[in-house]
Amino acid sequence: MDQISILAIHGPNLNLLGIREPQTYGSTTLAQVNESLQQEAQRLQVGLSCLQSNHEGALVDAIHQAQGKHQGIIINAGAYTHTSVAIRDALAGVAIPTVEVHLSNIYRREEFRHHSYIAAIAIGQISGFGANSYLLGLQALVTHLKSQGN
Ligand code: DQA
Repeated sequence: MDQISILAIHGPNLNLLGIREPQTYGSTTLAQVNESLQQEAQRLQVGLSCLQSNHEGALVDAIHQAQGKHQGIIINAGAYTHTSVAIRDALAGVAIPTVEVHLSNIYRREEFRHHSYIAAIAIGQISGFGANSYLLGLQALVTHLKSQGN
């Protein structure tokens, strides 16, 4: 059987991780997040690609291009979580099992962050564990995919 391949997508402003509002998002940089995701992927024996964009259309394109290449998606869509029907529709359109992650607990924050357009089409959501949210998301996604016979 071919190795499972996962795409990790980081949305807007996540390139600033480490310097951006560290009291909310911590001091871990995006490069460090991706490095620990790679290590966890190796441990779980899955492939992993990571990308970040500040542009909604580029994120939609990346989701489309995941078709036939990746069996699962982890996405932190940043602020687009709360605004983007286009990203939600892209994820629903390619029908690739998706786990939504957030560093902060979006439900403990401003009310405008409480609604996610992605949540209803995701397998599940992990929110509030800092950089560890990504690792928990990867573990949950891979467990799900393996249980589905991937
Ligand atoms: C975030 C939460 C969003 O509300 C915010 O716009 C972000 C980061 C998080 O990871 O906690 O950019 O997705």
